[in-house]
Amino acid sequence: MSPSTDEHALLEMRHISKYFGNVTALEDISTRVEAGKVTCVLGDNGAGKSTFIKILSGVHQPSSGEYTMYGTPVEFASPRDARNSGIATVFQDLALAPLLSVWRNFFLGVEPMHLGVIMRSAFMKKTAKEEMAKMGIDLRDVDQPVGTLSGGERQSVAIARAVYFGARVLILDEPTSALGVKQSGVVLKYTRAAADRGLGVIFITHNPNHAFPVGDRFLLLNRGHSLGDFAKDEISHTELTRLMAGGAELEELEHEIGIR
Ligand SMILES: Nc1ncnc2c1ncn2[C@@H]1O[C@H](COP(=O)(O)OP(=O)(O)OP(=O)(O)O)[C@@H](O)[C@H]1O
Ligand SMILES: [Mg+2]
Repeated sequence: MSPSTDEHALLEMRHISKYFGNVTALEDISTRVEAGKVTCVLGDNGAGKSTFIKILSGVHQPSSGEYTMYGTPVEFASPRDARNSGIATVFQDLALAPLLSVWRNFFLGVEPMHLGVIMRSAFMKKTAKEEMAKMGIDLRDVDQPVGTLSGGERQSVAIARAVYFGARVLILDEPTSALGVKQSGVVLKYTRAAADRGLGVIFITHNPNHAFPVGDRFLLLNRGHSLGDFAKDEISHTELTRLMAGGAELEELEHEIGIR
């Protein structure tokens, strides 16, 4: 159940805790992310999911514990540090510009220059279209504003962009939480496609029905504590759902009787 030390894991978290004053956001959390695999982090509100991501994205530093990449301890002092180490985080609000076209968004902030000034728009359009097609994303028109895309398609632009720019670890923060069944399916497909391209993916969700089909490993959080860290062959869909529901019920009960 608990992850063994494996120096070949792309990313491994060992006994990570994070305290904000006397609030325990995470307590002794360990899991791992393999290249080509999806690690799902599940938990209800306040479970510590965002804190977990923010540590790996260099926004927060852990209070104790360590994380390693291919067995070597790493420390991300800033989001730039994390990005330079190949960690790409797609936050829930996506940071895409809705009025700009798909291809402008694809290259936003990293536009290739020609002779130091001119953006090669033909190259960018072609590349954006090709890269999205490689992920199985077939957009009619990369000139359309991102604001006209469905929620699932928007997530897919962000995922394809991270893959193209050489991310090794892709962190997706609740990419399906605002989406319906069909659009969620679309995002799960691209999440899998990113792993198939060799990235280690961290997929955050509170929905076991989204996690189970896409995940290779499942870390369950409840109020900052781990309810378990399972490889796919160690847990069934039913068991995952039961554990998640159990965590939520416990939390509700504790609130009700006033010990939280
Ligand atoms: N910067 C902070 N300062 C103080 N407390 C914080 C801070 N960030 C998070 N917390 C606390 O840590 C706990 C975990 O919060 P976190 O945002 O990681 O949960 P979450 O699983 O992402 O929840 P949600 O599903 O609601 O987004 C909460 O009790 C929260 O109030
Ligand atoms: Mg959160």
